[in-house]
Amino acid sequence: QSLKIGLIPADGIGKEVIPAARKVLEAIGSDIPKPEFVPLLAGWEVFVRSGTALPEETVEALRECDGALFGAVSSPSRRVTGYSSPIVALRKELDLYANVRPVISVAANPEEKPAVDLVVVRENTECLYVKQEQLVPTENGKEARATRLITERASRRIGKMAFEIALGRPRKQVTIIHKSNVLSVTDGLFRETIRQIPFDSNGRYDSVKLEEQIVDSAVYRLFREPQIYDVMVAPNLYGDIISDAAAALVGSLGLVPSVNAGDKFVMGEPVHGSAPDIEGKGIANPIAAIRSAALMLRHLGYTAPADRIDRAVDQVIREGQVLTPDLGGKSSTNDVLDAVLKKL
Ligand code: NAI
Ligand code: MG
Repeated sequence: QSLKIGLIPADGIGKEVIPAARKVLEAIGSDIPKPEFVPLLAGWEVFVRSGTALPEETVEALRECDGALFGAVSSPSRRVTGYSSPIVALRKELDLYANVRPVISVAANPEEKPAVDLVVVRENTECLYVKQEQLVPTENGKEARATRLITERASRRIGKMAFEIALGRPRKQVTIIHKSNVLSVTDGLFRETIRQIPFDSNGRYDSVKLEEQIVDSAVYRLFREPQIYDVMVAPNLYGDIISDAAAALVGSLGLVPSVNAGDKFVMGEPVHGSAPDIEGKGIANPIAAIRSAALMLRHLGYTAPADRIDRAVDQVIREGQVLTPDLGGKSSTNDVLDAVLKKL
């Protein structure tokens, strides 16, 4: 039996950090079935060559895989005819309804608790991101309107994902992020649906503590006392903003992993972009990609090897001898990879 993993480095430093993550998966050994890697194309460069940013073969091949790792795409800021972001399309095609982002700092010694240790679970398919916007001319000038879609089905499945993740963490706490004091219909449905989950769970979530917080004060408290949070679950827009804000708490974009997860598929993806300013220099931090590989394994049920990878990475960061320039060091992508492999 093997573990089939699609690899989509895509553009820029994606092509430098995804190979590093692959080496780490190869080094895990018998804790996981032997990985079989399937290299796949997507992104800006393939669009320029072939006219499509997400070749049909890539989607078809991914359907045969157990999981995938995605690097980053260089999406142009101007509108380009025929181009649309492959990552957004993939989330839709593979029904990856959750964006899960653990934000964890590394304490000075292994016995201490990290100052920040939380997971943002963001709904990935609806809210204002259904992109139903209209510009309406009126007597007093233009009026812009947008539809915000919140469904019970999507709220329930993202809520369940948050509860499941909480079950696997020591604190077992879920905080619903919402603004239902103002948006009592949409955010009200999100909040009520998630609050109902424990009652329908046959006791499965009895050990999980459920909290809630209005989004604006949630951000305030996130910066002042991040330790009060464990798992934060949020509708798409709030989740997008909160997860970037939370990433700022731990120093570098080059450290923060994510997965796009559905019931049938999971795709790891470093949070950072293709970093054209450092592309080709061999100094991209591979840690976000390596942690994304660990997170993918975690979602596939391989908890112990995921823990091993995370511990190896934490050791390298804690020792501070082998760090890329984004963390103030002088080491290369390969130096950091080698250091992680040695710890493993
Ligand atoms: P970016 O994340 O690529 O870079 C922001 C800054 O962080 C840069 O100074 C970069 O050098 C640094 N950085 C990022 N990752 C790093 C790493 N692993 N190691 C060391 N330094 C790192 O964001 P930017 O510059 O706004 O976007 C560049 C391109 O990436 C754009 O085309 C954008 O559309 C795309 N992008 C793609 C994403 C994705 O594929 N999910 C997400 C964000 C941006
Ligand atoms: Mg974002």
